[in-house]
Amino acid sequence: MKNDNNRVYIFDTTLRDGEQALPASLAADQKNRIARQLARLGVDIIEAGFPVSSPGDFEAVQRIAREVKGPVICGLARAIDNDIISCAKALKPAARKRIHTFVGTSPMHRQGIMHKSKEDVLAMIKQSVKLARRLCDDVEFSPMDAGRTEDDYLCAVVELAIAQGARTVNIPDTVGYTTPELFALQIDMLFNRVPNIDKAIISVHCHNDLGMATANSLTAVSHGARQIECAVNGLGERAGNTALEEVVMAIAVRGDIFKTPTRINTQEIMRTSKLVRDICNMPVQPNKAVVGGNAFAHSSGIHQDGMLKVKNTFEIMTPQSIGLKDSRMNLTSRSGSHMVLSRLKQLGYADAEIDKQAFYQRFIELADKKGTVYDDDLVALMESKSSEDFKDSYTLEYLNVSSGRKTIPTATVRLGLQGKIFQEAACGDGAVDAATKAIDRVTGFKITVEDFKLSALTEGREAQGRVTMIARAAEGVFTGIGTSTDIVEASALAYMDVVNKIARMKKFKKKIVIRN
Ligand code: KIV
Ligand code: ZN
Repeated sequence: MKNDNNRVYIFDTTLRDGEQALPASLAADQKNRIARQLARLGVDIIEAGFPVSSPGDFEAVQRIAREVKGPVICGLARAIDNDIISCAKALKPAARKRIHTFVGTSPMHRQGIMHKSKEDVLAMIKQSVKLARRLCDDVEFSPMDAGRTEDDYLCAVVELAIAQGARTVNIPDTVGYTTPELFALQIDMLFNRVPNIDKAIISVHCHNDLGMATANSLTAVSHGARQIECAVNGLGERAGNTALEEVVMAIAVRGDIFKTPTRINTQEIMRTSKLVRDICNMPVQPNKAVVGGNAFAHSSGIHQDGMLKVKNTFEIMTPQSIGLKDSRMNLTSRSGSHMVLSRLKQLGYADAEIDKQAFYQRFIELADKKGTVYDDDLVALMESKSSEDFKDSYTLEYLNVSSGRKTIPTATVRLGLQGKIFQEAACGDGAVDAATKAIDRVTGFKITVEDFKLSALTEGREAQGRVTMIARAAEGVFTGIGTSTDIVEASALAYMDVVNKIARMKKFKKKIVIRN
């Protein structure tokens, strides 16, 4: 008979199984911060640690038991008296507490590790669950490596643990070896063959060695399990445990299939994931389901266009449902003009300010060089448009510089003006000097750069740099601005900005002379 409980309990083991997998154990204070957030997230049970394993872990569990309100606080203990007594002591201050005791039941554990017979292990289970129940009302028992334990023996183990007072029996796939089909058969088998199974909640604890932890856990729920043991960001031994965010969101999004909801406040998922990532110093892969940096990011033109029109075309859950502000549109060379221009408008540019075709062309050029184009890149592109907006302007068509330790810096430039191309080369003290001298050779202008500033506009190694310069010529003092991912090109563009201002000033002065 199945548990008739109509919801799924979320048992979080980030601070126990998850912590075991970290290069260094967490301090009591760090564990406490995570536990508080888990309470905010609404997990039902927090497995706070393994008190007997170290004085530090004992203290951490005790502190969480004292300070964190809401969830049941649980401690892990081997099926050994001393472990169980220590666990009960650490949990004492908790308003709601649980002792989780376990022993390996598969032949590998019985024979290979403990050198015990089946009967010896049954005796350990009897003794440990009984003791735990004397010390705590809420006891969970786990036959470790249940996935590889013989069916008949597993049934006997589960029946005994329940008979001794375990309220929850957890079925761990300790080595991530089972598959959804096999796990379903195993859970069905327990429900069909263990006579007192209705007296306990059946829980599952799946490891992710073959990437099936989430599928296995959810299959078990479909077959009557009502507690999932999981960890934030899927932390845990080896390939980790079932990821909390995955099972919770699967149950939420596919409520049509899993008719047993959790009580998780899903909007706290992202905050929890980030906190665990930062405190545990364990990065989350960008393509990780639900909480990965790309989980709500759209890159291809077709996807972005779809998102602009009808959001759920490419999103099965909203970013807001896990506590994110919005989806992210990655602006890359694959983005269509519709998306790029819509982003520009969101940034506050009016339609009239944008020369759509020209801007998109420049965006694509930048995206080809830089990969992802960020908002400040777009602003920088808009800012530097002035030098190219004038029909009579010189344009920088080609720039090639060679410089290095034992090389004389040399630059070749090709400038466009009213449909014609002019090419020159020059040497200089450095790459920028060579480039500006080559430009001077084309224009014939005499320009002295009096001030030169380089600043990074965007972040990362492919950041856009902005060069601002002040230059003097016979016609006056001019400022020039140039933006590029390449600082020599940014300098040349800033210089071209100056050149075009001088050219316009020359034209303007000529007109005045003629009129006079
Ligand atoms: O993986 C496992 O079997 C465990 C038990 C202690 C439940 O972590
Ligand atoms: Zn485990």
